[in-house]
Amino acid sequence: MKKVEMIIRPDKAEYIKGILDEVGAGGVTVTSVMGYGVQKGSLDTYRGSVVPNNLLHKVKIEVVLADDKVDALVDKVCETIKTGAVGDGKIFVSPVENAIRVRTGEKGESVL
Ligand SMILES: Nc1ncnc2c1ncn2[C@@H]1O[C@H](COP(=O)(O)OP(=O)(O)OP(=O)(O)O)[C@@H](O)[C@H]1O
Ligand SMILES: [Mg+2]
Repeated sequence: MKKVEMIIRPDKAEYIKGILDEVGAGGVTVTSVMGYGVQKGSLDTYRGSVVPNNLLHKVKIEVVLADDKVDALVDKVCETIKTGAVGDGKIFVSPVENAIRVRTGEKGESVL
């Protein structure tokens, strides 16, 4: 199992549900977040250096899914929401040790 954490532009969040359905993800957690990447929130550069500006509003989408679904998910997301401009977002993939469904106590990949 892997956790895919996608930090994307808020106006692109509406495309995610369709992609998750296509890939066969069982659930999702969505959070409104603030952050910046390598441009440090700057929309501008001054004499070749980035001008630090602000934390920018982004949406964080977290999905835990089977290893063999990860590539399909990240490829579809990149294809669908890419504008080509800085700030399009970032995706982090990390291992998940276990998953537990509280209602039944069931454990492992079958709870996803
Ligand atoms: N190294 C990081 N650690 C944690 N969060 C990050 C990191 N890099 C980016 N983020 C989060 O992802 C959001 C989007 O980042 P962003 O798309 O600007 O990445 P980037 O690396 O600067 O790429 P680009 O050059 O395309 O802008 C940031 O606002 C921040 O919330
Ligand atoms: Mg950036």
